[in-house]
Amino acid sequence: KKRIGVLTGGGDCPGLNAVIRGVVKAAIIQHGWEVVGIEDGFDGLLTGRCRQLSIDDVRGILPRGGTILGTSNRGNPFARPVEKGGKIEYVDSSNEVVERIKSLGIGALVVIGGEGSFKIAMDLMNKGVPIVGVPKTIDNDLMETDVTFGYNTALETATDALDKLHSTAESHHRVMIMEVMGRYAGWIALESGIAGGADVILIPEIPFDIRKICLAIEKRRNNGSRFSIIVAAEGAFPAGGMRVVKNSADATHAIERLGGVGEFVANELAANLDMDVRVMVLGHLQRGGSPSTFDRCLGSRFGVKAVELVDRNEFGTMVCLKGRDIGNVAIEKAIKQLKVVDPDGEMVKSAVNLGIMLGR
Ligand code: F6P
Repeated sequence: KKRIGVLTGGGDCPGLNAVIRGVVKAAIIQHGWEVVGIEDGFDGLLTGRCRQLSIDDVRGILPRGGTILGTSNRGNPFARPVEKGGKIEYVDSSNEVVERIKSLGIGALVVIGGEGSFKIAMDLMNKGVPIVGVPKTIDNDLMETDVTFGYNTALETATDALDKLHSTAESHHRVMIMEVMGRYAGWIALESGIAGGADVILIPEIPFDIRKICLAIEKRRNNGSRFSIIVAAEGAFPAGGMRVVKNSADATHAIERLGGVGEFVANELAANLDMDVRVMVLGHLQRGGSPSTFDRCLGSRFGVKAVELVDRNEFGTMVCLKGRDIGNVAIEKAIKQLKVVDPDGEMVKSAVNLGIMLGR
């Protein structure tokens, strides 16, 4: 009987369980294969933590956030941190992982992950492990797919938060800054900002000018709007400014931050405007919760497509969404560079035409 493995790697996001369920159901119902669920991403392959998944195991998980398999940002088999004499050294344990996959009788591996997991997947492919990828990230920064699952739910969460911030900002005549996730991409900030009626949106793709933000807020106040809403992507930074690495829990997931861009902008505005300013960092709330209808459907379709690709021996490929259709592309193409917002593109122009200030 054919056996396939499935794992979820990197940061979690809503819809992971829909993909796992899709993989398990399609593999068992369509082909009668066995599915091994690997726990905590690639880490489970190093330590051998895995379990067979039946249809019963995936019952009722569709509306659940997170991943029933667990995930990890660590566990890169090619750079496993080990402590030696009080120091951390990185060792290559990839041969053990390849052996583990063989001994478990896993004929192909479905990797549900983002850029980081796919880089590891490609290196394992080069060692002979047949892999199919499923693109996951709330940041929506993966090339070669119109959208990743998880992004839509994160957007809903951010837009809902903006709606709630609006009423309190208005009551107190305050400037409210909401900092959202997205790493180096401004997708969450831009789309939630448009949907939530933000006055200013700051994204990494457009370095901002703090004086111009002050002018925009003053102009609003002079026109009778005594409050303003700013959405700042965590990766946004001032023109000519320095980006410094802050609180990166581990090197593989390092993100350059301005010591908190929300905090930075708040301090600048408080010093330059005679207005009350507050910051809200939305944080990991954006990664949690029940997936939206869109993400449940996309995740399920991705899971089914991944099984189809395994069946057709189309390894080294990733499922993707193009228009309304599910397709597949080479993983290599998808990880060449990050997909970021075009600063001169339609979405930015539309925001400007709506009167939103983009920081420049
Ligand atoms: O890539 C997803 C993401 O949530 C980013 O938006 C964010 O910068 C990062 O992960 C946070 O990582 P961690 O969970 O390690 O704090």
